[in-house]
Amino acid sequence: MPSAIVTGATGILGREIVAELGRSPQRWSTIHALSRSKKDQYPENVVHNHIDLTASAEEMAKELKGIEAEYIFFAAYLAKDSEEEATKINGDMLENFLKALVLTDASKKIKRVILTTGAKQYGVHLGVPKNPMEESDKWLSDSDRPPNFYYRQQEILFKAAKEQGWEWVVTYPNDVIGVAKGNFMNLATSLGLYAAVTKQMGDELMFPGSPGFYTRFDCFTYSRLHASFNHWAALEPGAANQAFNVVNGDVESWQNMWPKLAKKFGSKVPENMFEKEDKDGIDKETGSVMELMPNPPLSEFAAECGLKGSKVLGPSRVEQKIDLVKWSQRSDVKDAWQKLAKREGLDESAFEGATWGFLGFVLGRNFDIVISMSKARKLGWTGYQDSWEALSECLDELVPEKVLPRF
Ligand SMILES: NC(=O)c1ccc[n+]([C@@H]2O[C@H](COP(=O)([O-])OP(=O)(O)OC[C@H]3O[C@@H](n4cnc5c(N)ncnc54)[C@H](OP(=O)(O)O)[C@@H]3O)[C@@H](O)[C@H]2O)c1
Repeated sequence: MPSAIVTGATGILGREIVAELGRSPQRWSTIHALSRSKKDQYPENVVHNHIDLTASAEEMAKELKGIEAEYIFFAAYLAKDSEEEATKINGDMLENFLKALVLTDASKKIKRVILTTGAKQYGVHLGVPKNPMEESDKWLSDSDRPPNFYYRQQEILFKAAKEQGWEWVVTYPNDVIGVAKGNFMNLATSLGLYAAVTKQMGDELMFPGSPGFYTRFDCFTYSRLHASFNHWAALEPGAANQAFNVVNGDVESWQNMWPKLAKKFGSKVPENMFEKEDKDGIDKETGSVMELMPNPPLSEFAAECGLKGSKVLGPSRVEQKIDLVKWSQRSDVKDAWQKLAKREGLDESAFEGATWGFLGFVLGRNFDIVISMSKARKLGWTGYQDSWEALSECLDELVPEKVLPRF
């Protein structure tokens, strides 16, 4: 029976990979869950080991003594303020970890390394992408683009695989719906807290993001579906040395999910949410507008698609009708949270720890994000998840965690 090593074992994606493999003791003898902190209780076939991936390869090799596996799942991540810093640190973490496994000789046992990256592969953070996004799309190469840490990580992976003779798989999830504590990008927790506090304040549930995006399309990744994809891709012979989009398989929009969210929290959606913005634009006091790159990712495909000079190329923006960072800092909002937390016995630190900037970004982009699952489906992947049901399940899980009040 094979064993596995999972880095980022406490993260929103990594913890589900640990749980997924841990549920199959007949298939996985040992799963080494690696991170600095330990946040979960594990079944018998899971062993937690401490590791600091920012250490040198030599230091890491000491922590990795006696730890080896056929399958390595790399889902660790450290957020940084700039893309340059993120590229340096996240690239170094992967590179030094792989070097450490060479130092301990564990690399000789490896069959496949599965690296989690994301849809920033296609520049969804830079402006309107080419839709739908396909794995065969060329990598973005305009010289004025910021570095992309996924590109560096993949280059490190490809080189090490060639030198050491193992196989690789890369996943591209997008806008992850899942449950984790104290992580960097957490859609469900922030969204649930926004809805709960708005209700506590006696207000209807206003969509805080881009008026245009409300009726556009996004593709989400349920963290558990991503974990079962990792499990499948590790063992599927045809997945060797391939990168895959991993999204739920439905295409969603907030015009469909927002009323469901309001209903879940016992709130109502205002009837005329965008009347004012349609006439006057976004109020800069309470909202915000951030311009993205003038040459969005789609511009690199424009000539071949016949879209050169077209108005679909821009401008790409992040528009927030209610800027969520400013909103979360308002004293009336903080007071409402305090009252709610006290009354319902909630974890008071949950509000501060929510990722307001990330949620504002996810809801604020003014362009469609449509991601193709055809490549994996052609290879036999049949996984599917209804995105609203995923979000609803995660919100339910946050109730016993004392993050959200009872519904
Ligand atoms: N979340 C999303 O919405 C989303 C969407 C698309 C793509 N992605 C991508 O998915 C990948 C995983 O991200 P995530 O959101 O799952 O991350 P996350 O929830 O923030 O978790 C990060 C994990 O990395 C570990 N880690 C961080 N620094 C470490 C260090 N110095 N040494 C050892 N472990 C360390 C953390 O554990 P400790 O802190 O306990 O060490 C934690 O387990 C990233 O490439 C991310 O860009 C995420």
